[in-house]
Amino acid sequence: MKIHTTTRACEVAPLSYTRVVFTEGTTTKFVERADGSTALMLGVGSFAKVTTRSFRLICRNIVQTARSSKLRKLAVQVEPMPFPALSAVRDQAWIVATLAENFLLANYEYTAYKSKRSRYALEEILVCGSLNAAVKRGLERGITVGECVNLGRDIANTPGGDMTPALLAARARAAVRTLPVKVTVFDEKRIAREKMGALLAVGKGAKDKPRFIILEYWGAKRGKSGERPLVFAGKGITFDTGGLNVKPGDSMLDMHLDMSGGATVIAALTAAARLRIPRNIVGLIPAAENAISGESFRPGDVITTLSGKTVDVLNTDAEGRLVLADALTYATRYNPRLVIDVATLTGAAIIALGEHASALLTKDDGVRERLMTLGEESGDYLWPLPLWSEYQQYTKGRFGDIANIPSSGNTRAGGVIHGGMFLSHFTDTYPSDCGWAHIDMAPRMVSVPSDKLAKGSTGEPARFLIAVADRYDVDG
Ligand code: BES
Ligand code: ZN
Ligand code: ZN
Repeated sequence: MKIHTTTRACEVAPLSYTRVVFTEGTTTKFVERADGSTALMLGVGSFAKVTTRSFRLICRNIVQTARSSKLRKLAVQVEPMPFPALSAVRDQAWIVATLAENFLLANYEYTAYKSKRSRYALEEILVCGSLNAAVKRGLERGITVGECVNLGRDIANTPGGDMTPALLAARARAAVRTLPVKVTVFDEKRIAREKMGALLAVGKGAKDKPRFIILEYWGAKRGKSGERPLVFAGKGITFDTGGLNVKPGDSMLDMHLDMSGGATVIAALTAAARLRIPRNIVGLIPAAENAISGESFRPGDVITTLSGKTVDVLNTDAEGRLVLADALTYATRYNPRLVIDVATLTGAAIIALGEHASALLTKDDGVRERLMTLGEESGDYLWPLPLWSEYQQYTKGRFGDIANIPSSGNTRAGGVIHGGMFLSHFTDTYPSDCGWAHIDMAPRMVSVPSDKLAKGSTGEPARFLIAVADRYDVDG
């Protein structure tokens, strides 16, 4: 799908373009006009009530409606925009960027395994209005972000049988091949030499061995006097059977998406490089398959992590926090100023928040506030849960230092927090001026119908990570 701009009014577009007309109320219908053109009268509710949140859904609705009616060409007037509340808080560049981004997200479908390609495609959207250079740059930016998020969705949606840790590394390399991003991949031997005992243990049971994927984008000055980087660490479990604590019944169905955190890190680094964001950003993806075999790690095993801390494996299905532990320790080598890890860590996050927000856990009030704002601005919504010291007592180890699930109390209560508390043990040596936040994105791993996105990966929270890369306050 191409998105073009024109300074001419939408009404003078060739007749092959269906005109999108925003209308108040809830009815959406097609109207044939006397001049031979067709208008898609899109009901958007009350114009006065359109917000940044509802605007994203309106953009997606345009594409979803066009696709279900098999329209090939659309024309949308964006100047002037009839939404006063939106225009009061967002400039034209934001509106056009959001429009482009959400057109692309809504037009995405995972078709890699369809034997018959549909001959239908929404070919073009003409964005009409007197758009200045800054607004056109906004549009280009929205296109880049949309394309990168969709790239992440393609990676995340790939079935587990066709996505080994090595293939995930290959996808990361391919994504940034023409970009100034350095890719380093540790194989199993190197992982062992580095003493990443947690990643090694989780990956042991699989035929396809683990990888540790490093993406470095030095968009600002490098070296000692250079800017300290942002580090994004993404869980890269290419398939999660649960390990010997095997997942029951349907719980395993979507577990090829358990590398969604890693996929969003690849998407974000790709976008940062394509947008030439003047920041230093490092992506770390501990990749492993949590499989079942005679080689699998076992409940009761005590493993030594890269940090030197030992972990009692009380449940092999709490594997995401294990692989991330080593990534969070590895992050210290970059002397970062902010570390964010992103993971489909717990089913408990879905129970806590439903399916409309990812959980945000950090001990730093300032970081929490800034990240929640960036979540709201980007469209990847985050909601906080605490990491108070009161929760520390539950993950004490029996024979090792730390247990990977609560070893006392009600073990089903507060699962998201226990995951975060576990990870916090591996960030406690960070200097006080280095922020850390954990995002449990399990609630947003797959789309729900009201998202107006295709089934499967939402691509979240890649837009949020891109916003962090772009706007996280350097001085803050
Ligand atoms: N990958 C799962 C979490 C998950 C479940 C993500 C459903 C998305 C949808 C994770 O590795 C896991 O299995 N977590 C366990 C933790 C438990 C053993 C403490 C869980 O949520 O049950
Ligand atoms: Zn698991
Ligand atoms: Zn998992």
